[in-house]
Amino acid sequence: MGKSWGFGKTILFGEHFVVYGLPAIASALGSYTTANAEEGEPASGLTLIDERPVTPGYKERKKPEQDDSMNNILAAMDINVDKNPVKITLGGNLVAASGVGASAASCAAIARALSAHLGLNLSDEEINKIAYEGEKGYHGTPSGIDNTAATYGGLIWFRKNLKGGPNTMERIKLKEPVELVIGNSGLTSNTKEVVGDVRAKKEAQPEKYAAIFAQYEKLVNDARCALDEFDVKRIGELMNDNHGLLQQITVSCAELDDMVDTAKDAGAYGAKLTGTGRGGLMIALTPGEELQEKVASAIEGKGVSVIRTKIGI
Ligand code: PMV
Repeated sequence: MGKSWGFGKTILFGEHFVVYGLPAIASALGSYTTANAEEGEPASGLTLIDERPVTPGYKERKKPEQDDSMNNILAAMDINVDKNPVKITLGGNLVAASGVGASAASCAAIARALSAHLGLNLSDEEINKIAYEGEKGYHGTPSGIDNTAATYGGLIWFRKNLKGGPNTMERIKLKEPVELVIGNSGLTSNTKEVVGDVRAKKEAQPEKYAAIFAQYEKLVNDARCALDEFDVKRIGELMNDNHGLLQQITVSCAELDDMVDTAKDAGAYGAKLTGTGRGGLMIALTPGEELQEKVASAIEGKGVSVIRTKIGI
């Protein structure tokens, strides 16, 4: 038997841009997905029981992708469930929704649980590679940022190696944790579709997109300095700017823009969509519990469900 975990994450800077080899910054969340792997009933192959808390419609929508992902994980670990039936149970306190890295958290948790169950003793690096294969079932061509944050936790600077070599992952130290509010639009988006659409638009309008990407590259380097210097005001401003660029590449939507405005009106230092966009989540930087409560209540007042969390834990 093996019980294991994978962290949820939020992308502070750089969703979509990260797919094209630009740096991004992600933080693990305090919440995680757990997986338990044990011997299955004879001749039952794989049994997957999903007891994660979820946003309505998420499980149904993601089921075909989850099946692909599971097959990828089993193939990457060279496990034949016809010979060795396995029962996997997912749980934990991470609410599965688009944007919290729920798929990656489950992939890392499953890989760790299978490793423990079969006594493989895999390193974090190996778990991360398997989780990446699992992520392909959901994303098609994932950048790798989600599985990296899910596997290692903490605040990370991530850069995908477009030549296929190892990706860059560096830890960023934050002087102290900072409160963050996550608002859930309740809409589940399809990462593969949205990433594909951005690619098509980028190819159709190369000059426009090159200019946006250049602005982003400067922004993310400024963001790293602001995090290193613990300049929370500047981090917030850069989050606002990043949201503007995400609007320009058409991955925001009315629900996300409304949440961003509500958060900023209530005093958030900055706010942006996080993750795939066109649904999913928004994050607002709200240093101090008082401000966090004020912003969270303002968003909840609009009938939106909210997570109160921290980055840099
Ligand atoms: O929606 P999420 O949290 O799975 O994030 C997707 C992030 C993208 O940059 C849009 C895709 C990727 O592979 O990095």
